[in-house]
Amino acid sequence: MQPDHSDAPCTEDDVRELVHRFYARVREDATLGPIFEARVTDWDTHLESLCDFWSALLLGTRRFQGAPIPAHARIPDLSWPLFQRWLALFHDVTATLDRPALQTQADAMAQRIAAKLWQVWQDRNVLPSLPDTLPDGLTAYRDSPVFTPDNLPAALQAAHSTKAGAWGLLTVHTGVLRYTLDDPPHTAVVLSAGQRVVIQPQQRHHVAFELPGSFQITFYREAGAATE
Ligand code: HEM
Repeated sequence: MQPDHSDAPCTEDDVRELVHRFYARVREDATLGPIFEARVTDWDTHLESLCDFWSALLLGTRRFQGAPIPAHARIPDLSWPLFQRWLALFHDVTATLDRPALQTQADAMAQRIAAKLWQVWQDRNVLPSLPDTLPDGLTAYRDSPVFTPDNLPAALQAAHSTKAGAWGLLTVHTGVLRYTLDDPPHTAVVLSAGQRVVIQPQQRHHVAFELPGSFQITFYREAGAATE
């Protein structure tokens, strides 16, 4: 089924125009250009993926399959001034499109995502990650539904925990999910497609989508534990 675009700030053609104009400017830029040219080998595919990304944000489509968090975490020399340069070019380009609703929304989203990418980039360098492998000797007993922003229960977005002896293995299929421990050390990890985190028995936690996507949890029990 096609998403309902009746409240959309723009069309798919506007998204293409924005992405193509913006990355033409990026590639010409003395500071940003070389970073992209060193990493992007197939610009046609990259631009297609970026159109899908902006279409997901602005039109609610679900074609985007990339993983921006690890893509940027891999770039060694990022800095906040580089993000500011990226944003300045982006704002210049949205201002030339003559689409005020698109400009307002895209500018705000870019600002928010740039701050998030920068925060995660810094976090990755100082924070330990949470375990992504279960201990031996557990038995799987149930899979959760596949959760998306549309069906994510409020209970999972507030502090909650599994019972004694019940473990979970959360796997992100698409999008970006933040998994946070509600008790000390209050660690938060930002997971993208393919990444997992172990949910320990009785450890209070909650989740929030950073970018729309989907995830699922498989539950495991320790030998002799009553989990239902
Ligand atoms: C300092 C600023 C930035 C730099 C230098 C930068 C650089 C890059 C590079 C080199 C790639 C390709 C990575 C690869 O294929 O290995 C990339 C991908 C991407 N970037 Fe950025 N970026 C910046 C900011 C942003 C911001 C603010 C956004 C969003 C608002 C963004 C969205 C994306 C997306 C969606 C991808 C594709 C990820 C994928 O397909 O998995 N970038 N970026």
